[in-house]
Amino acid sequence: MESSITLDVDGQARDVVVDHRTTLLDALRDRLGVTAPKKGCDHGQCGSCTVLLDGRRHLSCLTLAVAHDGAEVTTAEGLGGGDQLHAVQDAFLARDGFQCGYCTPGQVCSAVGMLDEAKQGHPSHVTDDLTSEVDLSDDEIRERMSGNLCRCGAYPNIVDAIREAAGA
Ligand code: FES
Ligand code: FES
Repeated sequence: MESSITLDVDGQARDVVVDHRTTLLDALRDRLGVTAPKKGCDHGQCGSCTVLLDGRRHLSCLTLAVAHDGAEVTTAEGLGGGDQLHAVQDAFLARDGFQCGYCTPGQVCSAVGMLDEAKQGHPSHVTDDLTSEVDLSDDEIRERMSGNLCRCGAYPNIVDAIREAAGA
């Protein structure tokens, strides 16, 4: 069964007809030509497909496109809102937060989402004090980014970049 849906992808309304079994990742990459989200594992284990869906981070390989008709999808290409880089992307550049870059679009989307979650006071598994603002220690950053794997092992620089972006 198929349905026609509209997604707002990086600020552009995109119409697409999708089989109901089509993941958001496949709709973006294969149907709409939006290749920023990467297919690493295709079953929710690596985070390379992370996008922001209505402002919250999601694994697009575990999300059915048809369930998000009308949603706002932000990929790494649209994070800066145009030709500009987002502050998180600037920080990844400044801190060498990548090597091959395959995981990076997912890492930056996840970092933007998690900084917003921390700002809103969402606790993580390692948050000790639930009564005050989240202190984004390196442990907090690592825990909150633990769904995004990097086969190049750029983790120390990724943490540096996110710490820098959080301060900015
Ligand atoms: Fe989605 Fe790996 S491709 S989590
Ligand atoms: Fe190569 Fe992360 S930079 S997988």
